Amino acid sequence: MYSLFALLPILHSLFPTVFAAPSFLNHSEPAYCPGGNPGNDVQAQPALLGSVFFKRQADQPRCGPSQGNQLCGLGTCCSGTGFCGTGSDFCSVPQNCQPNYGFCDSDITPTGPDTSAEQRNAQGPVPYGQFIFNCTMPQTLALTYDDGPSNNTQELLDILMSAGANATFFVSGNTNGKGAIDRTPEWVSAIKRMDAEGHQIGSHTWSHPDLNNLSSEDRGVAMRKNERAIANILNKYPTYMRPPYENCNSESGCLTDMNNLGYHVVAHSLDSQDWANPDNLSAMVDTFDSGLGQALPNGSMLLMQHERFSVSAINLTRYILMDITQRGWKVSTLADCLGDDTRNWYRTPSRTEPATMAIDGCVVSRNGFCGTLNVFTNKQECDDSNRNCYTQVDDCNSANKGAVCDDMKNICDFQSLYCASCGTMTPNISCETKDFGFSNQP
Ligand SMILES: *[C@@H]1O[C@H](CO)[C@@H](O)[C@H](O)[C@H]1NC(C)=O
Ligand SMILES: *[C@@H]1O[C@H](CO)[C@@H](O)[C@H](O)[C@H]1NC(C)=O
Ligand SMILES: *[C@@H]1O[C@H](CO)[C@@H](O)[C@H](O)[C@H]1NC(C)=O
Ligand SMILES: *[C@@H]1O[C@H](CO)[C@@H](O)[C@H](O)[C@H]1NC(C)=O
Ligand SMILES: *[C@@H]1O[C@H](CO)[C@@H](O)[C@H](O)[C@H]1NC(C)=O
Ligand SMILES: *[C@@H]1O[C@H](CO)[C@@H](O)[C@H](O)[C@H]1NC(C)=O
Ligand SMILES: *[C@@H]1O[C@H](CO)[C@@H](O)[C@H](O)[C@H]1NC(C)=O
Ligand SMILES: *[C@@H]1O[C@H](CO)[C@@H](O)[C@H](O)[C@H]1NC(C)=O
Ligand SMILES: *[C@@H]1O[C@H](CO)[C@@H](O)[C@H](O)[C@H]1NC(C)=O
Ligand SMILES: [Zn+2]
Repeated sequence: MYSLFALLPILHSLFPTVFAAPSFLNHSEPAYCPGGNPGNDVQAQPALLGSVFFKRQADQPRCGPSQGNQLCGLGTCCSGTGFCGTGSDFCSVPQNCQPNYGFCDSDITPTGPDTSAEQRNAQGPVPYGQFIFNCTMPQTLALTYDDGPSNNTQELLDILMSAGANATFFVSGNTNGKGAIDRTPEWVSAIKRMDAEGHQIGSHTWSHPDLNNLSSEDRGVAMRKNERAIANILNKYPTYMRPPYENCNSESGCLTDMNNLGYHVVAHSLDSQDWANPDNLSAMVDTFDSGLGQALPNGSMLLMQHERFSVSAINLTRYILMDITQRGWKVSTLADCLGDDTRNWYRTPSRTEPATMAIDGCVVSRNGFCGTLNVFTNKQECDDSNRNCYTQVDDCNSANKGAVCDDMKNICDFQSLYCASCGTMTPNISCETKDFGFSNQP
């Protein structure tokens, strides 16, 4: 696994003069001056860039265990079926990408200080580092939804709101090609709305791995990336998590790790089995009714659903809310159903500077720096986008007095080379965001 930024030292060694030229790095100037200095230098270089990087992509080389463990070129992903490329068919986890043979969405890291040094004291009455299968308030149902936010979130929130019901959302950071939660405007607003309307937000990891299959270090990364991303949106991160596939055992060390990271590990008392027949509402209703029958009259229920199945998120939820109120049960967040006070649901990171909260999908500092790469479809737009990129780095630097704006600057430098070369070489490289490889668009 390597980061896209690993490419930059290689670019440095290929084009030392380009990166050394002060005029090239003067951010108040266009990064690339068509037809002028230092354009000649820049023009001459990128043929090489094309052949070492972008041409590999066009070739669609094979990769992975079925191809002699071959790796993909830098910046490209190895699809589940062993082809190199970019985009969600190649890069999206957990299904379409093979992490050990190229880049994957899971390798993206949210901006901002990582949470590894944060204090994680045990707080409240609910045990840490062990599975919770049920809740304790009699005649109470905890609705829980995995894998969101999704295209169904807003409608689901409307339904919950009109029923006056609070639920729990176990959100994943960057799965199924949906884009990172802290950089995708619709997911930022969905998560903010969940929080504002009294719902509980738990973690379902950054990239949905089977935690039993990871090293302790990688488990920490899978949790901490999601902490950072959620904190970029809400300035706090959860103490509740549901492991993907509900896989987290003692033998692998996962439960110990979750204990050390300060997490309540959540399973379910009833699985809606929405995943088994995602379109069959009556099958889900049958499952729910018989589960409720066993829990009546004094029990409680911890129900598991998946947000991305709309029949479950929308239709089944409507049915449940109607049914449960008729029986005189309450619906609540999981933590409420466990008697855990609101102040125990989250931790507030001590380090929030310089990147803190996401506004409209961009990662920003408290001073409003917004790192956005404008979409481009031709050379002129590529240059415009690149100028804007450097302007933002300047804004970031002045707002933060030279603090960390380097990630954005690295991308600007790389884009500058790209804009200079695109549309002019053989094989022809298009001047389009999708081929550039870096994008903060979903
Ligand atoms: C950047 O460009 C501006 C305008 O040409 C110039 O005034 C300034 O001195 C340059 N800064 C650096 C560091 O080269
Ligand atoms: C969400 O909806 C949009 C437009 O309706 C669609 O293009 C996109 O693929 C959907 N995303 C997911 C994750 O289903
Ligand atoms: C839902 O959450 C809000 C905000 O915490 C709270 O005021 C409200 O009482 C909760 N509703 C229920 C039914 O628990
Ligand atoms: C975890 O590892 C087991 C055994 O190697 C494998 O069967 C399973 O598919 C893996 N799970 C995931 C989600 O990768
Ligand atoms: C849906 O589920 C019900 C109950 O399990 C079953 O009787 C029915 O055949 C299913 N319908 C379809 C279309 O699979
Ligand atoms: C339900 O709970 C109440 C109070 O805890 C108790 O008095 C009653 O016997 C319980 N009913 C059943 C059927 O368990
Ligand atoms: C826990 O869940 C089961 C269903 O799996 C239910 O029958 C039982 O009543 C629940 N326990 C409590 C204490 O509510
Ligand atoms: C789910 O509800 C929608 C209305 O929100 C309706 O159009 C659709 O037919 C329902 N689906 C099922 C399977 O009942
Ligand atoms: C590359 O493609 C662009 C548009 O697709 C075209 O305008 C340009 O002339 C092409 N350049 C070469 C060298 O083929
Ligand atoms: Zn899941």
